[in-house]
Amino acid sequence: MQTPLCRSLGIDAPIFAFTHCRDVAVEVSKAGGLGCLGSAFMTPAELKEHLDWMDAKVGDKPYGVDILFNPRQPGKGAQLTIEQVDEMVWSTIPQAHRDFAEKLLSDAGVPAWPEPDRPSLRSMAYEMAFEIFEETLRHPKCKVIVSAMGTPPAEIIDAAHRHGQLIGALSGTRRHAIQHKEAGLDFVVANGNEGGGHTGAIGSIVLWPEMVEAVAPLPVLAAGGVANGRQMLAALAMGAQGVWTGSLWLTVSEAQTQPSERQRYLEASTSDTVISKSWSGKTARFLRNKWTEAWEGPESPGILSNPAQWLLTADARRRVERYGEVGHAQDVAFSGAGQTVGLINEVEASRAVVARLIREYLEAYEHLTALMPQE
Ligand SMILES: Cc1cc2nc3c(=O)[nH]c(=O)nc-3n(C[C@H](O)[C@H](O)[C@H](O)COP(=O)(O)O)c2cc1C
Repeated sequence: MQTPLCRSLGIDAPIFAFTHCRDVAVEVSKAGGLGCLGSAFMTPAELKEHLDWMDAKVGDKPYGVDILFNPRQPGKGAQLTIEQVDEMVWSTIPQAHRDFAEKLLSDAGVPAWPEPDRPSLRSMAYEMAFEIFEETLRHPKCKVIVSAMGTPPAEIIDAAHRHGQLIGALSGTRRHAIQHKEAGLDFVVANGNEGGGHTGAIGSIVLWPEMVEAVAPLPVLAAGGVANGRQMLAALAMGAQGVWTGSLWLTVSEAQTQPSERQRYLEASTSDTVISKSWSGKTARFLRNKWTEAWEGPESPGILSNPAQWLLTADARRRVERYGEVGHAQDVAFSGAGQTVGLINEVEASRAVVARLIREYLEAYEHLTALMPQE
């Protein structure tokens, strides 16, 4: 099962876990895969705290950090402070949109944020993403950087290489994957439509082999729709050097998911997700709920583009995160999820998930071998 990319990272299994929970990232790395911590919504100081903790827990295993270099941010590259960026984006948000979001939250019984501060784009702001990246350089066990939104800037790619990190990026189309390769990235994550969070329009079974061919010999990680070892075998059979998984880790025992959100994930079927621009202004897959329905419904003031919709919805995200068990907060929760949410029906430990994927992979391999003509 060891692929060239696994060997260059010194990991035992081609299982890459995207997660917002540091405990999950550490457990997956310790189990022989590679845990990759999503830095979205963090400040550099918060990331430092998480990475210090991970350094202390992960032993001699490597881990990764996922960063959003938002190429569409207004004022990008103009050396603005985060407050100036927030102000610039806030000024483009109409009052009708703020009122609509507020009504959805109050109808669901979600209390107001107790402090008077306004939410911020934080690591979604282009400049702060640079600071986030610089923090990763102070943590030598951080061996992998992944760009969530587009090809990272050239100076980031150079700096990552100078510090011995491998750097890759997600892509939902062949064209973007080729741009990643030409920019000098070390691998590409082929992100099929089935996946949770931001996703493109092409399904994994078409996208993975297309991308493997388009960027060869660059390694490709197969993302979108992987929750078991049979799917992992299929991904490797199509030429991928590993699987990049997200939804699989939302319900593991170490995840910081709120109890009622976890319950919704466990009960959801493969038909209960929807592609919606309602949180970020870009297409992303979520559990369908009152929030996603309302923004697409007849009363909606229309969805703003990215990053205005991100900033507009930042208040909803933090309020539901804090008050997720109050009223009907989960009806308006930011619950990213891929279609595999329907295949995940029980709470498992992260280590057990890694072991299960390997066991199922081997069983599927044996099944295929048994189909070969016998001597
Ligand atoms: C709740 C959630 C949040 C996500 N946030 C990010 C993110 O911040 N950055 C990123 O690169 N990918 C993000 N993703 C996408 C994952 O990296 C991954 O591509 C996707 O989950 C793979 O498909 P799967 O969900 O079927 O495993 C997110 C996915 C989920 C489920």
